[in-house]
Amino acid sequence: MKVTVVGAGAVGASCAEYIAIKNFASEVVLLDIKEGFAEGKAMDLMQTASLNGFDTKITGITNDYSATANSDICVITSGIPRKPGMTREELIGINAGIVKTVSSSLIEHSPNTIIIVVSNPMDTMTYLVHKTTGLPKHRIIGMGGALDSARFKYRLAEALGAPISDVDGMVIGGHSDTGMVPLTRLATRNSVLVSEFLSEDRLNQVKEDTKVGGATLTKLLGTSAWYAPGAAVSGLVQAIACNQKKMFPCSVLLEGEYGLNDICIGAPVILGRNGIEKIVEIELSDAEKAHMQESSEGVRKTNGLLAL
Ligand SMILES: NC(=O)c1ccc[n+]([C@@H]2O[C@H](COP(=O)([O-])OP(=O)(O)OC[C@H]3O[C@@H](n4cnc5c(N)ncnc54)[C@H](O)[C@@H]3O)[C@@H](O)[C@H]2O)c1
Repeated sequence: MKVTVVGAGAVGASCAEYIAIKNFASEVVLLDIKEGFAEGKAMDLMQTASLNGFDTKITGITNDYSATANSDICVITSGIPRKPGMTREELIGINAGIVKTVSSSLIEHSPNTIIIVVSNPMDTMTYLVHKTTGLPKHRIIGMGGALDSARFKYRLAEALGAPISDVDGMVIGGHSDTGMVPLTRLATRNSVLVSEFLSEDRLNQVKEDTKVGGATLTKLLGTSAWYAPGAAVSGLVQAIACNQKKMFPCSVLLEGEYGLNDICIGAPVILGRNGIEKIVEIELSDAEKAHMQESSEGVRKTNGLLAL
């Protein structure tokens, strides 16, 4: 199993590290445009192999896509991250050009690859890859919901005073401060609905804290977060590589599901060796449907900024 990660910055390197530590891939290629940067990150990571006990071979390369040839999975993290006070949507000008060039170079050398898009604004970047590459929809996956759901579970556990392993929950919709739809109605603590333990006000607070999860970290760090994003990507890569058939919310091209068409937005999917093996449609409440509709309008507005 060969995995390429484009962008050896904070998220790309963290993603490569988690993939290696989980020890399921034979090879990870890190590629960056900055001279020597990916080579340095790869060498540093390889020097953790004997300490962390993994056999995955990590190599770094400066902008030479022949080194990525025949990758089973390619992850795109290249592009600029947001600074405090910025929205993800403001990154579109620079990142759209980068994602378009990078995805076409990857496919040239790995025509059968599955692509995972991480660069922001992620739903729009995923849509851009659909519109410009012609890859079938099950091989283009946007990572946002897996991270937002992890942040949701963190906030739920905090509110409940419970260990995170007791908590389950999911965030669907757009990967933006206003677009996320945290499904508090369905979240559980060890199979009991969290509404049994938490007031409506407290649950609304959890929802709001989840939606600004990325912005909160960007304010603290001065740039966007990387550990949880890297771990979330590694979870998707592992589900595909190991044919796990795990369910994650991912940005996926919808064709009628959730009443939406011609848009990439977060919905639950089953991930296995073929990429997206199924889109799972769950019954939403009227309020959730309205929130999903509003979220889709936000994503479409950003999609409208693409020069397609
Ligand atoms: N989808 C998510 O949930 C999520 C989470 C966190 C960050 N992000 C996004 O991921 C992206 C990367 O964030 P980061 O914190 O790692 O940024 P970073 O600046 O640390 O790393 C980005 C890397 O991309 C490289 N790069 C730029 N143009 C390139 C090109 N054409 N080819 C190859 N490499 C190129 C840069 O040299 C840099 O090393 C940002 O757009 C950020 O907003 C998404």
